Amino acid sequence: MSMQACDLRDDERRPPADELIEIIQRGLRAKPKQLPSWLFYDERGSQLFEAICEQPEYYLTRSEIALMGVHAADIANVLGEDVRLVEYGSGNAVKTPMLLEHLHTPVAYVPVEISVEPLRRCVQGLAERFPTLPVQPLHGDFTRALRLPIPPRVPRRTVLYFPGSTIGNFEAREAAELLRKMRGEMGDGGGILIGADLKKDTATIEAAYNDRAGVTAEFTLNMLVRLNREVGTDFDVAAFRHRAHYNAMAGRIETFIVSAREQKVRVGRQQVTFKQDEAMQVEYSCKYSPTDFAHLADKAGLEVAQTWNDPLNMFSVHYLVRAGTRTREAVAQD
Ligand code: AVJ
Repeated sequence: MSMQACDLRDDERRPPADELIEIIQRGLRAKPKQLPSWLFYDERGSQLFEAICEQPEYYLTRSEIALMGVHAADIANVLGEDVRLVEYGSGNAVKTPMLLEHLHTPVAYVPVEISVEPLRRCVQGLAERFPTLPVQPLHGDFTRALRLPIPPRVPRRTVLYFPGSTIGNFEAREAAELLRKMRGEMGDGGGILIGADLKKDTATIEAAYNDRAGVTAEFTLNMLVRLNREVGTDFDVAAFRHRAHYNAMAGRIETFIVSAREQKVRVGRQQVTFKQDEAMQVEYSCKYSPTDFAHLADKAGLEVAQTWNDPLNMFSVHYLVRAGTRTREAVAQD
């Protein structure tokens, strides 16, 4: 079923509490135990993520902003005139305006966001800053099929903007599936502008997910606080630890919630046992070399038309189009 274009009303398709319990129970029965990373983002979790972005070790956000500072005008030229920009997520207050500022006669900006409050804030902020830009917020889950609102005039192309390295949270197969879905949504002449964190030395990457102030640890453990509140589990949060390590073979940060001792947790009607030092997997953050990303795009029937890096080569933004539709000049330049 597709998502309705709607005017910020509540999402009646969000999983109800009993469905949430089932997701948790299934994850805790798996071996090894695992829970999905979208569970991080309740209100407190979103706040903590914002705080992570300000930590000196978390280079991703700063690098992508620096990238946009240097390349936003060039990116806008590549996207061309009369673009409808659909953002997956309701936009970072810094990055999105940097792009919008340079777009040539954009047809509309469509933020797609599952939480109502961030979506509302985004629309408000943009209305002040870009009073003439039509903003068409879509309340829904971008991993599902979207029904985009009817644009105020015919766009030359639809570009899906997916910044922030969020694609990194998906395992290779899911990432290709999501890109495949996006390929359909952008249409024939459309494109995808997507951020990806670059592979680099292990120490730099691991520091970004183990900041000294402990904000990432709090972010990780907040998932348990959320589950205690929303589904009535009784995790003793003080008896669990955050652990993030870089798996260089797989090219990804793997984040775990580790049980400090043997303990039992009630989840609905079930009891789950954690052994001492047992690790429950809660997040992957995949890192992509340019070649890795070209390979991923290929699996989704897409190709990389252009790539931009920040000045320190920490982070990249790719522009993807349907395979075989790059301009002849671009092919000649290779
Ligand atoms: C929001 C998915 C880009 O994976 O780097 C930050 C989330 N997790 N620190 C990332 C996150 C721990 C972040 N993304």
